[in-house]
Amino acid sequence: MSDAASFEKINYSIRPAKATQRRMIIEAIGRLASFGPLQDYQYIGFGSTFFIDFKLIHREYGLTDLTSVEIEREKRNRFDFNKPYSCVRMFYGSAAEFLGSHKMRWSTPSIIWLDYDYRLGDSVLADIHRVIDKAPSGSLLLVTVDAEPPDLDERAEILGEDIDLDWLLEWVEGEKLFRLGGWGLASAYHGLASASVESRLRKGPGDRLWRQIVHFHYADGHRMLTFGGVIVDPADLGSFDRCNFDDLEFFQSGAEPFLIEVPNLTGPEIHRLAQGMPKLNKRTRDSMQRLSISEEDVDNYRRLYRYYPQFVESHA
Ligand SMILES: C[S@@+](CC[C@H](N)C(=O)[O-])C[C@H]1O[C@@H](n2cnc3c(N)ncnc32)[C@H](O)[C@@H]1O
Repeated sequence: MSDAASFEKINYSIRPAKATQRRMIIEAIGRLASFGPLQDYQYIGFGSTFFIDFKLIHREYGLTDLTSVEIEREKRNRFDFNKPYSCVRMFYGSAAEFLGSHKMRWSTPSIIWLDYDYRLGDSVLADIHRVIDKAPSGSLLLVTVDAEPPDLDERAEILGEDIDLDWLLEWVEGEKLFRLGGWGLASAYHGLASASVESRLRKGPGDRLWRQIVHFHYADGHRMLTFGGVIVDPADLGSFDRCNFDDLEFFQSGAEPFLIEVPNLTGPEIHRLAQGMPKLNKRTRDSMQRLSISEEDVDNYRRLYRYYPQFVESHA
């Protein structure tokens, strides 16, 4: 692994879009209770040094079967030091190693968040396949990957020559044009991963189904893609329907993503807007307009306000 890992460069606790997404995912997890008591689930994630996902899930639902997988094994002292609860077990090694080891208990219903800090590739697809093959019905799999399109230098390096920008922003595959600029790479990744999940399920034993429930695009810096769904035996489709995932505002079952765009607002502005929630009336909108806050920011706040993080400076 590289000398400077993502957790050394990025403070995951103050990334507003990531924080918003985490809270949405926590809300979605609560719906799994239709399959059985949430406390019977195990959570497997990449807690990094901040363990924010672990803290939320433990505080919110009391889950105690928690495993954090961490590939940066040579820095284990730092992860051990930051482990928030005694019920968080650490596994040092890659997700592939963990999922292929006897430490992974496949008989337990699982919430698995493969929260990578790099792009989708064969190793990510192989991890997804392992989960799809073995996780019991009612398990939730979430995958996050970096979907920032390669910059010009990187593209030129890949191709080994100077290439025209417009040409580079398009990936020609037969008659298909995948636009890889902007959110194009995220869309291409989502298409690829979804097809791969479906084909894996078709080849596997039984006739299990993949029901996608979330598909996020967000960017605190790099563009990121998260998608997630529940693995369901046909006999459990009733339990899945009772989860009512589709009434979550951010529910997305297909290729259309939910874009998390967190408006940059001050505490007093948030307070004023929050007073108008859940329905924003004209008076509140007008008061925002007088402050030169754009309609777009107001609408984004309305879509996200229940999950909107507020960061305060502390003197710890
Ligand atoms: C994006 S951070 C996790 C953030 C955290 N889940 C949160 O909600 O804030 C990714 C962490 O997983 C580790 N990691 C990346 N790829 C991994 C892999 N294939 N297997 C295990 N750990 C990995 C990184 O070293 C880093 O600490």
